Amino acid sequence: MINHDRLLTKFGVSMKFGDKYIPLEKFNKMREESLKNPEKFWGEQAKCLDWDKTWDKVLEWNPPYARWFVNGKLNASYNCVDRHIKGSRRNKAAIIWENENGDCRTLTYYELYREVNKFANVLQNLGVDKGDRVAIYLPMIPEAVIAMLACARIGAIHTVVFSGFSSDALAERINDAGAEVLITADILYRRGKKINLKNIVDKSLLDCPSINYVVYVHRDKDNDIKLKEGRDYLWDELMKGAKKYVKPVSVESNHPLFILYTSGTTGKPKGVVHSTGGYLVYVTKTMEWTWGINDMDVFWCTADIGWITGHSYVVYAPLSLGTTTVIYEGAIDYPNPGRIWEIIENHGVTILYTAPTAIRMLMKYGEEWVKSHDLSTLRMLGSVGEPINPKAWEWYYEVVGQKRCPIADCYWQTETGGHIIYPPLGIQNIPLKPGSATFPGIGIDADVVDENGNSLPPNKKGLLVIKNPWPGMLLGLWKNDVRYRKAYWERIKNCYCPSDYAIKDEDGYFWILGRADEVLNVAGHRIGTAELEHVLVSHPLVAEAAVIGKPDEIKGEVPVAFVIPRKEIDDKKEAKEQIIKYVRDTLGPVAAPTMIFFVNKLPKTRSGKIMRRVLKKLILGEDLGDLSTIEDNTSIEEIKNELSDFV
Ligand code: PRX
Repeated sequence: MINHDRLLTKFGVSMKFGDKYIPLEKFNKMREESLKNPEKFWGEQAKCLDWDKTWDKVLEWNPPYARWFVNGKLNASYNCVDRHIKGSRRNKAAIIWENENGDCRTLTYYELYREVNKFANVLQNLGVDKGDRVAIYLPMIPEAVIAMLACARIGAIHTVVFSGFSSDALAERINDAGAEVLITADILYRRGKKINLKNIVDKSLLDCPSINYVVYVHRDKDNDIKLKEGRDYLWDELMKGAKKYVKPVSVESNHPLFILYTSGTTGKPKGVVHSTGGYLVYVTKTMEWTWGINDMDVFWCTADIGWITGHSYVVYAPLSLGTTTVIYEGAIDYPNPGRIWEIIENHGVTILYTAPTAIRMLMKYGEEWVKSHDLSTLRMLGSVGEPINPKAWEWYYEVVGQKRCPIADCYWQTETGGHIIYPPLGIQNIPLKPGSATFPGIGIDADVVDENGNSLPPNKKGLLVIKNPWPGMLLGLWKNDVRYRKAYWERIKNCYCPSDYAIKDEDGYFWILGRADEVLNVAGHRIGTAELEHVLVSHPLVAEAAVIGKPDEIKGEVPVAFVIPRKEIDDKKEAKEQIIKYVRDTLGPVAAPTMIFFVNKLPKTRSGKIMRRVLKKLILGEDLGDLSTIEDNTSIEEIKNELSDFV
């Protein structure tokens, strides 16, 4: 059993956001209704969107496939822009963009509307039709949002690839999705440096036969972009001749809005497919329920649009609600550690939504950086991506939120579309426990169970499961039904299993304890150990590899690799650097191992499975536990010697 009492601090159940435990009538009542009669409940909630045609049925549930608002018709871009320009939000800022130099660009809803329409026409002119896939590989610039919404406007399915990913990762995603058009840029700016995206794209495109056209946002006007005739075009040039209005294509609610790739337990990323109607209803409502959005809000979610947090809470939910969303291109601590606070002050941000890894990093810089800025506009905070440790929670609450702003710790995944365990602060203030994402949300029937699916008593560690479908639930995995069933529905019968360990305490609070599969969480990013091992063994020096996550003060976890070399290595230091660089170039910097150990053997079971659990205990210097299934004990001694300098 995990003793989480130590996690309870003075901010525990008696904190000021709820005088005593269970003042939750309103939330409890809504939650009860949502579970008792989901069709009636979600049918009511779906009125938060403008529909072209009402659905025939709220939910068709053929486990494990949920189809929401069946035969209802709508358009996501209409809901995120058109409907706002008809009223008082027409000239309200939709997007406030800023970069590391302090350059700003604001797009009102009307301006966003114009750009989305024109770019939708650009896509049409490139032959993009309803259901076609468009890959977006762009930094955090307004064009990324415009491109996403333009796809949605014509019913095309976007697949955004994080701009920190390498050429191989980009090519793999383009090929899996079968994307026909790629929207990208010549460069991105980060930490004062120019990163040449075009070079990466050129390399990818050697291996992407489905791509017919590439559209480049030309940013570095001092340098020309070398375009391939008949394939490559410049964004600005295409926009010049574009029509000013494109009628939004009305799609059935379950028409895919996007595919987003995430890491799994095999070497290949999973293409998570989200719907239009169910997804948009779910992100819109969860944003409202989490923070109670109003028209004065300036919302800043620091996630990159390349991740689900960026899709749901930088783009779709804020814009559907007519909120102002802040987009920042660059590192939040560059050019100085006060950058993030400066942006909040500059734009009067009212809600900040960021990740524990960022909070821990900012905490290290010291509170002076925070205190020298006026953060009085902040009214609420959010945390996402990994469990937040109480020390970081307290700092976030006291120093950043000045003990005034409750923190919504939101647990969810790429697959869930939106928050699933989170405090419903928009409905009512509730007591928060630092480190707990509080309760399963409205419409979410969650539990903690053992491997056989039996519900566990309070404070027993088990697997988190969701027992019912919800509108933000993925439609499936792109062209991979078998994997969809296997990855989420086979571990625990009749339940969606997110593969996270959790406990439920005696007050009903859920505590997420980390991954229950071979997936690492590095600075809030999911990295599959199998994916990483697959890349490692493709390096000429590597015969076999095993990757584990080592706890890290800032990033939560960092990848560490144990490698059996193909041949005797003379210069180990150089070989390690070479391999790390190779992973960086192949998978992207987030996946690069921080340490590599060369060994002759890896601990394996008699059936040949690598015992990563043992490697992890070795690196932590912990007791190794039961070793009865190990094939060869000598591997342990050798690794112990290799590690002796580090443990
Ligand atoms: O392990 C959980 C962790 O991040 C995983 C989902 O990663 P991804 O699909 O990339 O989405 C990240 C942003 C939603 C989960 O399975 N995780 C996410 N949020 C939390 C969390 N763990 C604990 N507390 C959270 N608030």
